Amino acid sequence: MATKQWKGRDFLAETDFTREEIETVLEVAADLKDKWKKGIYHDDILRAKTLFMIFYNQSLRTRNSFEAGMTQLGGHAHYLDPSKIYTPAMEGREVAYSTERVSDVARVLDRMGHAIAIRCYGDPVDWEYGGAHAMLREFAKWADIPVLNMEDDIYHPFQGLADAMTVKERFGGFKGVNYTMSWAYSPSVHKPRAVPQSAILYASMLGMNVTLAHPEGMELDPKIIAQCEQYAKTSGGKFNISHEFKDAVKGAHVVYPKAWCATPIFQAPVGQSDQTKTQQIFDQHKDWICSEKVMDIAAKNAIYLHCLPCDRGYEVTNGVIDKTSGTGWLSAAFDEAENRLHVQKAVMSLVM
Ligand code: CP
Repeated sequence: MATKQWKGRDFLAETDFTREEIETVLEVAADLKDKWKKGIYHDDILRAKTLFMIFYNQSLRTRNSFEAGMTQLGGHAHYLDPSKIYTPAMEGREVAYSTERVSDVARVLDRMGHAIAIRCYGDPVDWEYGGAHAMLREFAKWADIPVLNMEDDIYHPFQGLADAMTVKERFGGFKGVNYTMSWAYSPSVHKPRAVPQSAILYASMLGMNVTLAHPEGMELDPKIIAQCEQYAKTSGGKFNISHEFKDAVKGAHVVYPKAWCATPIFQAPVGQSDQTKTQQIFDQHKDWICSEKVMDIAAKNAIYLHCLPCDRGYEVTNGVIDKTSGTGWLSAAFDEAENRLHVQKAVMSLVM
């Protein structure tokens, strides 16, 4: 397959890129991380360039890794709060009404900077699933400069890249790595599903042996599952679904337990989601917590991953997430958070 040129490309979903292109991003990220660790300046890469960041939802890691990344590359990132600008609306979507349309905002920012990054995953409850991703695609249609997805309601492509980079650092590659992405209990049912969906897409694309574990009723988007099955066939990996938490963790090299929102919420029309049923599914599975005992049944050199923020005491015990050194299994959650910086710098360097 001919390689497309990088400059000017949007980064909206991992499915828009080939495995070879994703591996290129990971190589560039490793090089930039090495420079960062050695204190070698690389601020000539995006000198005097501007990234506009629109955040419809809050953030610690995403905002700060993009801002710090732009500074390190020699450019600047502007933080745009939708409540302080003329928030773009899409008809029929649950984005606040405003006088300016996506087409207006995209074309104005396009004249002033070098990329537009957007976070919009909505409220997982009473949200038209796919509406946020459609809005990002609309931005990309109107802007000639790259549009970057900082998490929408289907994909979190930069988080998935950081997850993959962390696995590659720990295991030297992807072949033979048993990767378990599991649902975990949380007191809140308002949990987006972009993180697990991107995690399993990357893992199956890159040839890992992927197990997706969740209670019945917590299924992810069937189109994402079909894509993972397809990736596994071509990458030499495996893709399986389990409804047993501990079975799924047994022998895993990567243990990634994370709450996400239930299928009934996504299937309901906007305004009519059945939260009672969802709450029941959550309440029946409070034992889906990543404890030390659970990690003990994983591979001896296993790593614990979480995109963060995590629900301590519910999704994971302190003893697991805080075990970042020593022998046996370890938490790599903070390496994973740091790697957001490096993968985003890699993509920005390539497309901007
Ligand atoms: N993992 C992640 O995207 O974190 P933030 O919500 O803090 O940006």
